[in-house]
Amino acid sequence: MSGSRLPGFFRLGIDERRRIVAELGGVDGATLAAVLDRGGIDIATADRMIENVIGTHGLPLGVATNFLVDGSDVLVPMAIEEPSVVAAASNAARLVREGGGFITDADPPLMIAQVQLVDVPEPALCSERITKAAPELCAIADRAMPTVVARGGGAREVEVRDLGDGMMVVHLVVDCRDAMGANVVNTVAEAVAPRICQIAGARVGLRILSNLADRRRVRVLARVPAAALAHGGRPAREVVLGIAGASRFAEKDPYRAATHNKGIMNGVDAVVIATGNDWRAVEAGAHAHAASSGRYRPLSTWSESENGDLVGSIEMPLALGTVGGAARLHDGAKLVLEILGVRGASELARIACAVGLASNLAALRALATEGIQEGHMPLARRGSS
Ligand code: MEV
Repeated sequence: MSGSRLPGFFRLGIDERRRIVAELGGVDGATLAAVLDRGGIDIATADRMIENVIGTHGLPLGVATNFLVDGSDVLVPMAIEEPSVVAAASNAARLVREGGGFITDADPPLMIAQVQLVDVPEPALCSERITKAAPELCAIADRAMPTVVARGGGAREVEVRDLGDGMMVVHLVVDCRDAMGANVVNTVAEAVAPRICQIAGARVGLRILSNLADRRRVRVLARVPAAALAHGGRPAREVVLGIAGASRFAEKDPYRAATHNKGIMNGVDAVVIATGNDWRAVEAGAHAHAASSGRYRPLSTWSESENGDLVGSIEMPLALGTVGGAARLHDGAKLVLEILGVRGASELARIACAVGLASNLAALRALATEGIQEGHMPLARRGSS
């Protein structure tokens, strides 16, 4: 067994699976077992993380196999309660592997701090003054986040938006490097607000990050050779067209798009949770982005390529961190990051997005062929190949 292509992994016992994951993930086997035996977190740590603690709450942690992302094999730990998701993502990753694997691309890790202004007397003049003061505001912001600046991040841009009725909002665009960014961006919003208030001659309202992290988008492409899709006596072309047709359905109908996107989030959230990241923030950003055209749309689409292969793409905002937050305290999250072998937040986001696209492909293939109950659910018993 090598890389992430592990046929028959599902047939092994838990100890043997752990041994393989430790070996391939380059982590100490005894440490892996000790951390996972206590569910990733001990009660004393839990008591430091939140309030009024009475225990910890476990979820199954599985490992998706077969993922080839930007030419590298990766074993993907997923925390999720729903049967079939891990096996289905692994199966879809095997199909995409036959087309060369997932190809990804990510924006720089830019997050938005919002400072709301109310009772603005002259919006046009206010906008002009704040825009002129951008270098000063960026300098104030940078002084409020020395650690982020030391890591190469910092304030990058100031945007002013007129929301009408005397309400405006100032955006400080912050490069937060490998942090998810919520803490630092909220600190920045509060640090720059008094000066913005002086310049604007208006009252400051809310000072908080935006979870519509649309400056921090990730894109993933996948190609599956048509021949790999022939399934259960169905010719390959029928399956390709069935999946493309399922995608058209989601593009035309928000009721279907919501379920299509839920299938994507099955994969994304399982990685987000396993790495101790804020899945509510990721969900909020994903759905706000899905609706950003004014109509709720699918985050991914699939079509038949010129040579008859199936091609899919996804774009979504993903605000994930590999430093700070739970990644600092939660031993299970730290272990998962080690197994993934990611060098930073961008790489983690690319992998999570690829897993989302794989989960989506698996669901659409089952829906377009034998149906989800017949095809997808029995995977829970059969495992992945
Ligand atoms: C179930 O968790 C997810 C699906 O409903 C997604 C879809 O319909 O595309 C199978």
